[in-house]
Amino acid sequence: MKLDEVQQAAQEQFARRSHRYGHGHILENVEDVRAAIEPLQLAPGSRVLDVATGAGHTGLFLASLGHEVTLTDIAAPMLERAKEAATRRGLKVQTRQHPAEQFPYADASFDLVTCRVAPHHFSSPESFIRETARVLKRGGHFLLIDGSVEDGQPEAEEWLHAVEKLRDPSHHRFLTPRAWSRLCEGAGLKVLKTTLTQFKQPDLNWYFETAATLPENRKKVLALIAHAPQSARDLFRLGEEDGNIVWWWQRLTLVARKQ
Ligand SMILES: C[S@@+](CC[C@H](N)C(=O)[O-])C[C@H]1O[C@@H](n2cnc3c(N)ncnc32)[C@H](O)[C@@H]1O
Repeated sequence: MKLDEVQQAAQEQFARRSHRYGHGHILENVEDVRAAIEPLQLAPGSRVLDVATGAGHTGLFLASLGHEVTLTDIAAPMLERAKEAATRRGLKVQTRQHPAEQFPYADASFDLVTCRVAPHHFSSPESFIRETARVLKRGGHFLLIDGSVEDGQPEAEEWLHAVEKLRDPSHHRFLTPRAWSRLCEGAGLKVLKTTLTQFKQPDLNWYFETAATLPENRKKVLALIAHAPQSARDLFRLGEEDGNIVWWWQRLTLVARKQ
C-alpha cells in the first residue's frame, strides 16, 4: 500500500526512534490498559489486535493474560523490538506491518481492538475507526487511549497542537472526546465510556530527547510556552517546578462495543 505523507512521516520518525520506546519508557506502565479492560471480562484466548503497538507494551500485556494477540505497526523496527520483548518475556504473538488506516484482515475476526497513544499520528482517524469496526466481531470491544483535549477549548487545543507538531512533526491531530465518539457511533461502535485523565509531563527535555526535536523547534516550543494563552495555562496547568517546565496532558480512554 502506498503511504500518504503523514503516514510516511510517522514511519520514518518511529523507525529512527524505536530504541526510545522500550524498557524505561513511561508507556511501560500499563495500569491504564488493565483498568480499562477489567470490566470487559474477556474470555481467555480472545483474539486481540493491538494497532500501532510501538514497543508492544499494550499488546504484550494482553498476551500475558493469555489472549491471542496480533501486534501491528507502520514502522518495522518497532515490530522487531516488540518481537524481541515478546521472546524475552516468553510470550507468543503474531506481528504484521501495516498502517492503521487499512487492515489486511477479514471482517469480524477480533474480539478486541486496542490502540494506545498513537492515533494522534494517524492521517485518517475516520478510516482507522471504520477498519476497527469492520474487523471486530459483533459484541467485540474497542479500547482507545490517546492524548486529547476536552471539548469546547479550541484555543488551548490549537496551542497544544502547535507545541506537539514542533516537538514531533509526525504528530497529526489530537481529537476531542466528542469527535472520537462521533466517529465510533458513525461506524457502528456504541461508546460505553469516555474518561479524560490528567497525565503529568514532568520533564520537557525528556520529551524533546524522545522525539529528537530539532534545536530550532525546541526554541519555538519554549517561545510558545512563554506566550501561552491563559486558556492553555489553565487547562494544562502549565507551570514550573524546581526550574522544570511542567504541564498536564489530557488523556482520553474510550471503550466502545461493536453493535
Ligand atoms: C507511542 S508509540 C505507541 C505506543 C504503544 N501503543 C504502547 O501502548 O506502548 C506510537 C506508534 O504509532 C505508530 N504509528 C504512527 N502512525 C501510524 C499509522 N498511521 N499506522 C500504524 N502505526 C502508526 C508508530 O510507528 C509508533 O510505533
